[in-house]
Amino acid sequence: MAGISFHEVTKRFGDVVAVDDLTLDIEDRELLVLLGPSGCGKSTALRMIAGLDEPTSGTVSIGEEVVNGVDPGDRDIAMVFQSYALYPHMTVFKNIEAPLLSRHVSVDGGTPRRLDAAERRSRVVETAATLDLGDYLDRKPAALSGGQRQRVALARAIVRRPRVFLMDEPLSNLDAKLRTQTRLELVELWRRLETTFVYVTHDQVEAMTMASRIAILVEGRLQQVGRPQEVYQRPANLFVARFIGSPPMNTLDATVGQVGEGYVARVGDVALPLPPDVPVSADQRIVVGVRPEHLRIDADGPLDAVVRNVEMLGHEQHVICEVANQLLIVRASSDVPIVEVGTSMRLRPDPGQLHIFEAESGGRLA
Ligand SMILES: Nc1ncnc2c1ncn2[C@@H]1O[C@H](COP(=O)(O)OP(=O)(O)OP(=O)(O)O)[C@@H](O)[C@H]1O
Ligand SMILES: [Mg+2]
Repeated sequence: MAGISFHEVTKRFGDVVAVDDLTLDIEDRELLVLLGPSGCGKSTALRMIAGLDEPTSGTVSIGEEVVNGVDPGDRDIAMVFQSYALYPHMTVFKNIEAPLLSRHVSVDGGTPRRLDAAERRSRVVETAATLDLGDYLDRKPAALSGGQRQRVALARAIVRRPRVFLMDEPLSNLDAKLRTQTRLELVELWRRLETTFVYVTHDQVEAMTMASRIAILVEGRLQQVGRPQEVYQRPANLFVARFIGSPPMNTLDATVGQVGEGYVARVGDVALPLPPDVPVSADQRIVVGVRPEHLRIDADGPLDAVVRNVEMLGHEQHVICEVANQLLIVRASSDVPIVEVGTSMRLRPDPGQLHIFEAESGGRLA
């Protein structure tokens, strides 16, 4: 059991800065998700924990120990990759047992040693049961479904009971239904094992549903770290605001106007009142964010909208409309009568649900 710390870690590959001055404390036994678009440095960060890449500068610690320069085999971690390979000629039992043969293993925190055959058998059987693989121990991988093979790969990683468990997009080869199911199994596994998990994905739904905390990376830089609810409700900048949430947050370009003592956001010829304490000045360019579930169709609403498309999903509908030459998505109940494309209507943002960002930097103002 151990937490993990990045302290001012930078990783360069020639001219490419893959991870840029990352400082992040991953707590003992948490399920931290590293989230971000392709190429943002997620795998590189994970590989530095595993020891497969060394930082160019800064330190990585596991528990109390700085692990820069420590051999991957001596870090007591296990890693599952997106493209895992099982040994095709071996049974499931032999596949799961393999790490116990090639390495010394600590039992109940004792000095690592080789396990004898009976100890290995009981460890393999127990691990297989954890992942519902008990009935398949004598099969070869070719006779398993994709999801079962994925679970064998997971079993092989946890059989040593490492103190840190690293996963790099382990579900991306699975179809949508199996992904949802395996996601649940992984979270249950994490609860049972009481081990630190670091999980890499570019899928914000996966991050929101699995994480104790999410760390969002863009171009190697940490944007925000927080519980799923926090990053959803108070995104630190425009990037996070647009990345988290499906459908994404609506963002409207606006200019600050002054009315008496207060400020408004001018979107086209509409003025939306801004919260009293927003640090803005007249004529400043800002972006007003509002989530699709915080827009109401309301005959007296301030925003004039024209319906461009309606997506009926069964349990809800997404009404896509145009406001001041910008597109907005409204999330409405499926009970609301479907509006015709081309219809004009008015929208009202829920009070207190506007997110205000600085246009230039994208940073959150309120
Ligand atoms: N060995 C390497 N040599 C050169 N550049 C590399 C190397 N490994 C990674 N990079 C670069 O570093 C950046 C971060 O790569 P990384 O694999 O960490 O991204 P990622 O967030 O995992 O992306 P993806 O979601 O596509 O897997 C990219 O620009 C990538 O091209
Ligand atoms: Mg990657």
